[in-house]
Amino acid sequence: MKKVVVAYSGGLDTSCIVKWLKDKYSVEVVCFSAFIGEVPDKNALKQKAIKCGASKAYIEDLKPEFAHDFILPALWAHARYEGKYPLATALGRPLIAKHLVRIAQLEKADAVVHGCTGKGNDQVRIEVGVRTLDPSLKIIAPLREWEFKTREEEIEYAKKHNLPVSATKASPYSLDKNIWGIAIEAGVLEDAWKEPPQDAYVMTRAIDQTPKQAKYIEVEFDAGVPVKLNGTPYGLVDLIEKLNAIGGQYGVGRFDMIENRLVGIKSREVYEAPAAEILLKAHEELESLVMDRDFYHYKRVLSERYAELVYFGLWFSPLKTALDAFFAAHQKRVTGVIRLKLDKGHAVIVGRKSKYSLYHEKLATYSKGDAFDHTQSAGFVKIWGLPYEGLDFKSKI
Ligand code: ARG
Repeated sequence: MKKVVVAYSGGLDTSCIVKWLKDKYSVEVVCFSAFIGEVPDKNALKQKAIKCGASKAYIEDLKPEFAHDFILPALWAHARYEGKYPLATALGRPLIAKHLVRIAQLEKADAVVHGCTGKGNDQVRIEVGVRTLDPSLKIIAPLREWEFKTREEEIEYAKKHNLPVSATKASPYSLDKNIWGIAIEAGVLEDAWKEPPQDAYVMTRAIDQTPKQAKYIEVEFDAGVPVKLNGTPYGLVDLIEKLNAIGGQYGVGRFDMIENRLVGIKSREVYEAPAAEILLKAHEELESLVMDRDFYHYKRVLSERYAELVYFGLWFSPLKTALDAFFAAHQKRVTGVIRLKLDKGHAVIVGRKSKYSLYHEKLATYSKGDAFDHTQSAGFVKIWGLPYEGLDFKSKI
């Protein structure tokens, strides 16, 4: 092995990894950082990587690609793992895998390296993604094999080797953030009975800190893509970031759950995803207005499966690709406006309209102007119930 590409964040783990790889494997180390959340100082990060011993650092703002190629399909799929988690971290990993492979091929590297632990889902997502895209690449996961047992030992190592790790006290939580949400783990959160302390939250306000007055917003979709907020057009990344800020102010999009990891354990997870919560609800609502009953009901079954595939690291897989095509099939109908009320942690749908609406007030009304032909129902009901007539349910009387 001569050269490796490291998925580098600039944090303690990946900084130690760069140095450790050079010592242990005597390889040239190239770093790669993808920004899919906040965009920090590119130059500073590059310098940091070089100081740790990297020969080169690719620092790339991949938010637009993340939004269009990863978030949007998941939005169309209404993907929420176990009905809750909108999959922010799980969506980021295949993007990182893809670019690790791209850079490894460009650099003619022998291996890619990640800083995931041996206990999480992220190692699976990155490694399965990398192997699907280029099985010739080796994969190194230092956290599964190195000698450090604690954070303190890593800090010691960093100090000894003069690695530029920040002196500020690290968060007591493990955080992973991108524009689709943040995952918060570890520390006191591992006690499943304890309410997450206020300082665990990053993107959302506590309910008692939210404005007294509810806020009404309108999200407009064009062919499935959210394009306007309150009548003003935004690119997808900007719209998501805007909704994170507004939703966060109203405490929207907090999740506190026990989750079934792929590696078999249950973990306590805290998530914040204001934009995801608003956009998923709005998109689901618009589809309920414009799609027929069969499609709408069947899709719900597939959404569950899709979320599992993404969570389980199978982004680049035939079933996932086929399901993407299924969900994309009717998005052109998903054009219209959804009105929501943000209030004390809730995003409540209060109005919807679309030129493709299948809701007809004339058919639905119980008031004057009812166009529904009640006389037709007698025959319909009779025939619908025919197969069940006289079946053996007498004991239920
Ligand atoms: N449990 C979540 C998932 O598997 C969040 C993982 C957070 N990852 C992290 N490196 N902190 O998607």
